[in-house]
Amino acid sequence: MSPPLRKVVFPVAGLGTRFLPATKVVAKEMLPVLDRPLIQYAVDEAVEAGADTLIFVTNRYKHAIADYFDKAYELEIKLAEAGKGDLLEIVRSVLPAHVRCVFVTQPEALGLGHAVLCARPVVGDEAFGVILADDLIRSPGTGAMRQMAELASTHGAGVVAVEEVAPADTGRYGIVDAEPISERAARIRYVVEKPKPEQAPSNLAIVGRYLLPARIFDLLESTQVGAGGEIQLTDAIEELLHEREVLAYRFEGQRYDCGNKAGLVGATLALALDDPELAPLVRQAAASRGQN
Ligand code: G1P
Repeated sequence: MSPPLRKVVFPVAGLGTRFLPATKVVAKEMLPVLDRPLIQYAVDEAVEAGADTLIFVTNRYKHAIADYFDKAYELEIKLAEAGKGDLLEIVRSVLPAHVRCVFVTQPEALGLGHAVLCARPVVGDEAFGVILADDLIRSPGTGAMRQMAELASTHGAGVVAVEEVAPADTGRYGIVDAEPISERAARIRYVVEKPKPEQAPSNLAIVGRYLLPARIFDLLESTQVGAGGEIQLTDAIEELLHEREVLAYRFEGQRYDCGNKAGLVGATLALALDDPELAPLVRQAAASRGQN
């Protein structure tokens, strides 16, 4: 049994070049899917999994995320005075009262592994989660992070979320070689960052959810530059496998890769089609587009 998950790290220092020019001023994680920014979905998932300390690894240009989670006194007072209780509730529900945010700067963009290492002073000596907000996961019931925390607590192991990807796409992901132990979980034998399809051990790819022991920080301290000239979290996990069990977990839910336009549009459409007010309008818009 592992202790409950309390801390989740959100690496949010990326430049978001796929969404330029919007990302000249809008942090990629602040791009909305319907009316909520991407980071909100990630935070909700972490809080549902039990996290009360959210650690954002950011860069010195990205103030919007801190502003977003800060209390907006003036706005709240105006909404309260205008009797707009429903809107006030929406503004306040961004972050439950028991949850605190900590912001850590990543001085240089040296890779995901380096970003996670920057959170070490706040995480300390306990197991923690990592969520990449680009990967928006919609689950029918329990969120993906909570599913992972439940698995970790029964197995006392690290867990990474995985899903099958097209074999041609292995070069975009960390890819695992794993031995199944149940319907959704497998014991990882080997993991490699962004292998070419002909070198990939499988097409089972890591998606942006990790539950890791604090030991990963020691390993990250000495992780050398890897794929893409960056310090890779995947390489430190490969080291960890020599000492401890790490499970690959096929989460229940649908992932949208909102790090690219098609994924962001897909997530937006999926949410819109689940919204009783929006769904008929979206269908109508698509039908009339088809006629023109
Ligand atoms: C990162 C990780 C990779 C993982 C991916 C999931 O890559 O390094 O192992 O498969 O996230 O989204 P990035 O997308 O930052 O290049």
